[in-house]
Amino acid sequence: MNRRVKLAAAAALGLMLASCGEGGGKPAGEAALTVGFSQIGSESGWRTAETRMAQKAAEARGVTLKIDDAQQRQENQIKAIRNFVAQGVDAIFLAPVVSTGWDDVLREAKDADIPVILLDRQIQTREPELFLTSVSADNAKEGAVAGDWLVGAVGTKACPVVELQGTVGSTLVADRKRGFEQAIAKAPNVKIVRTQSGEFTRAKGKEVMEGFIKAVGPRNICAVYAHNDDMMIGAIQAMKEAGLDPGQDVLTVSIDAVPDIFKAMADGDANATVELDPDMGAKALDALLAYRKTGQAPPKLIQTPSTLFLPDTAAAEYARRKDLY
Ligand code: AHR
Repeated sequence: MNRRVKLAAAAALGLMLASCGEGGGKPAGEAALTVGFSQIGSESGWRTAETRMAQKAAEARGVTLKIDDAQQRQENQIKAIRNFVAQGVDAIFLAPVVSTGWDDVLREAKDADIPVILLDRQIQTREPELFLTSVSADNAKEGAVAGDWLVGAVGTKACPVVELQGTVGSTLVADRKRGFEQAIAKAPNVKIVRTQSGEFTRAKGKEVMEGFIKAVGPRNICAVYAHNDDMMIGAIQAMKEAGLDPGQDVLTVSIDAVPDIFKAMADGDANATVELDPDMGAKALDALLAYRKTGQAPPKLIQTPSTLFLPDTAAAEYARRKDLY
């Protein structure tokens, strides 16, 4: 049976079951679904939360989720996808560590009629039909929200900014950078003076920040923009060790909204964060279940919001999130 015939049959079965009054995500009579999830690793608090929440969402929907930790390596992700195809899983979730080099392996999944859903990062491909949908934020908007906040916070004083980028080669790093740069371009007094990857980790964020402080001098940094909160937590540590008062002497803005950055904001050590929703697995599962039920493809992008959080709500947000993540 080719793919179109199979989908039509699945849709007909879905309609038949719906007309028999069946509810819930899994049509009655259908075996429990198995989804393979190729996860990047556990470089940040956000990533760990995404994995944990995907697991919970799968359990709540009666889906078996097989998670493979690629330890930041694309070749491990490609291997995992091939294994999932060989096992005949019902769908594959992929959080792609980098944006290019996926076409061959995704074609193998497509040839095996296994839908692929991208989580939190995009890929570059000339064949968008290789994936069913993607769940992610508008990463340029995240950067823009961060940049707009900074421009408003500094006013007219000269503001040299240092930037901690995430993993090189991922779409969201380029987008977070571009969005931020476009926002600060409106304020000629705000300029990026140093930029380097901190690989989305606390340890590397701290190390790179130490380098920035040495290179430009502790009193010549007005603000830090970090592509995630974990790198900012590392940078805050570096600033304290250099005798600075982060949150006061140096403004901070980062992305993710993990509990630890709220703790830092409540303590006066950080100023702003832009939320990236970690509950992406639930959205992907709901899209997959609806697709299997109706045969109708979801929109190509299921977009999550990018909300700015400031110290005024930090203590409450920390209390609300600390056990959720
Ligand atoms: O792809 C999402 C990013 O990856 C998060 O912002 C970062 O913390 C993570 O490691």
